Amino acid sequence: MAQKDWNPDLYLKFNKERIQPSIDLVSRIEINEPEKMIDIGCGPGNSTQILAGRWPESKLLGIDKSEAMIAKAEADFPKQKWKIFDVEAEEFNDSYNIVYSNAAIQWMGQHEQLLKKLSDIVKPEGALAVQVPLFYSMPLSDSISRVATLPKWQPKTGSVDRLFTILSSSEYYDILSNLFARVEMWQTDYIHIMESHSSILEMMKSTGLKPYLEKLESESDKKEFTETVLGEIKKDYPMQKDGKVLFPFIRLFFVGYK
Ligand SMILES: C[S@@+](CC[C@H](N)C(=O)[O-])C[C@H]1O[C@@H](n2cnc3c(N)ncnc32)[C@H](O)[C@@H]1O
Repeated sequence: MAQKDWNPDLYLKFNKERIQPSIDLVSRIEINEPEKMIDIGCGPGNSTQILAGRWPESKLLGIDKSEAMIAKAEADFPKQKWKIFDVEAEEFNDSYNIVYSNAAIQWMGQHEQLLKKLSDIVKPEGALAVQVPLFYSMPLSDSISRVATLPKWQPKTGSVDRLFTILSSSEYYDILSNLFARVEMWQTDYIHIMESHSSILEMMKSTGLKPYLEKLESESDKKEFTETVLGEIKKDYPMQKDGKVLFPFIRLFFVGYK
């Protein structure tokens, strides 16, 4: 499905929640002094900064297929190298000691082929380090799906269901163990403490909800759809005594070493 471009400012509104997995992933990569690194699906370049911070001497390239994301990365981090590049459609012509991707491969299909393609650009003794949000294990995906498949919205948003490609840890292990000498995997349930149910909706507008909203043309339809999703979120995520809402967000990490 052709997607509209990303909104980097909306995406960065929840940077605190989005950046911690990058920090956790980078901190567990066991590679000393990598010469070259690449951030696949780098977005606005924030997750890239975690790599740059740990290995400031290394050559680093951030790639993303979104023009808006790369423009934001170039504006905010002009000293670093950025490139518009579609991982699914284009071929790489270089190799890296660390190939890293935070919260991006779920937007790409065919993970067996994709991981082979990424493994092929890892240098000997290098690593592939990836984090994927386990969106379909979260009640939120049901909240959205219930609304998207209502008779009113089904003709437009019904086809968006299961948009993301996310495999199980067992499926990823079987793919990775064929490509790498050693594999590490772990899963973390980040419990985001949100100001309100609307904050969950706001955080998801730039990611999980984005493909659904793109299917709706009028502003009034978008508003009605998001308000109905908000009602479902309220059923799935109870409010705490102080009015805040806990939003558990499960993420799967893996690192393959050549
Ligand atoms: C949720 S953002 C993650 C951004 C960043 N890595 C972070 O951790 O904040 C996902 C990014 O993947 C990019 N993306 C999706 N499909 C892609 C593809 N085929 N090639 C390159 N980038 C892609 C999107 O444009 C988007 O910027």
